[in-house]
Amino acid sequence: MDLPGKKIVLGLTGGVACYKAAELCRALVKQGAEVQVVMTEAATHFIGAVTMQALSGHPVHIDQWDARIANNMAHIDLTRGADAILIAPCSADFIRKLAHGACDDLLSTLCVARPRGVPLHVAPAMNVEMWDNAATRRNVAQLRADGIRIFGPGAGAQACGEVGLGRMLEPDEILDELVASFQAKVLAGRRVMITAGPTFEAIDPVRGITNLSSGKMGYALARAAREAGADVVLVSGPTTLPTPHGVRRIDVQSAQQMHDAVMAGIEDQHIFIGVAAVADWRVVNASAQKVKKEAGGAPPQLVFEQNIDILAAVAATGSVSGWPYCVGFAAESENLIEYGAVKRARKNVPLLVGNIGPQAFGQDENTVILFDEDGHTVLPTAPKLVLARQIVSEIAKRLERRSLLT
Ligand code: CTP
Repeated sequence: MDLPGKKIVLGLTGGVACYKAAELCRALVKQGAEVQVVMTEAATHFIGAVTMQALSGHPVHIDQWDARIANNMAHIDLTRGADAILIAPCSADFIRKLAHGACDDLLSTLCVARPRGVPLHVAPAMNVEMWDNAATRRNVAQLRADGIRIFGPGAGAQACGEVGLGRMLEPDEILDELVASFQAKVLAGRRVMITAGPTFEAIDPVRGITNLSSGKMGYALARAAREAGADVVLVSGPTTLPTPHGVRRIDVQSAQQMHDAVMAGIEDQHIFIGVAAVADWRVVNASAQKVKKEAGGAPPQLVFEQNIDILAAVAATGSVSGWPYCVGFAAESENLIEYGAVKRARKNVPLLVGNIGPQAFGQDENTVILFDEDGHTVLPTAPKLVLARQIVSEIAKRLERRSLLT
């Protein structure tokens, strides 16, 4: 669970996207959050309070004069002890109200009366022209200046039939943004490049050689680095995984393509993390046409050539400037402690993350060992996202230590 015990006030304002708020509420509860729904009167025209009560498990509050709270001060009591307020959907009019500190209904009053430490996030939902309107842009800029975080909006087809920016983000994207908001921004302002997944080395147009890497660890690291405030680009071999929200992804197939994509963008990166299970060899005599089998004929003879080592090539680019800070992965099938230390030295990287590949490939959990100049540290078995967050924090610690030393 990503939000265990978190107390979230979920505000709904008037907009068709209210139908997505039901799914969002469900997702928040599923992640362990305790959700208190507050709706504006306009929101009740789009979705029933009964639905939101059933999904959140708590009575919904709409009216400022609702006497159900003992002291009759819903605008105070509902945010005391809250971990965050999330307005989704947030209409253009409600953005205007927030920008001006309006207190003319329960939800707006509650936002103004929130304690200083309770963050307020909004997921705008409106027509493309409304989002682009000068007044809305002014109001959104004011919200940002006031420290209110804006989730989205997304672009695409809108309920009104027009197309463009203004759609509310999907519930899973809003959930990712909210989860990210609770993570320490230890990589704020850093640019991170990550390789992930397997590579695919062609034999002919329909056949090739690949490996069992699922890409899960690399994708989890991309998400964790983005949650930590970094600008992340993911160079990915073939996987079936969705791109983590807010991460730029470049798809490649072969080791050579991965190398070329990495080298084309490495220059301004602060951190490089090589998680991909890069094929060590490619087929030199790959056929341009499908290889046909002939009755009784000899099997094809494949000739291999070693692929370039991407991690070592990147590490070599940083030998003078010290950037990017390089992190390698080692997938071993035995002798992890011995091989990991040797591999870190051979690849010339300050940090190497070792795991027993065959056990970890495709799994949701992993056990890893960190190798650095001081020796090795075991990170106990945990979901890959939890490990990814720990690895990100370990990288940040080492960067900080390094900047203190220079
Ligand atoms: N790596 C790379 N380019 C390659 C091979 C590996 O960038 N051509 C990177 C991987 O992404 C990983 C690290 O090097 O970060 C170690 O990969 P691994 O497959 O464990 O090691 P190899 O270098 O292939 O060595 P060996 O096959 O001897 O274990």
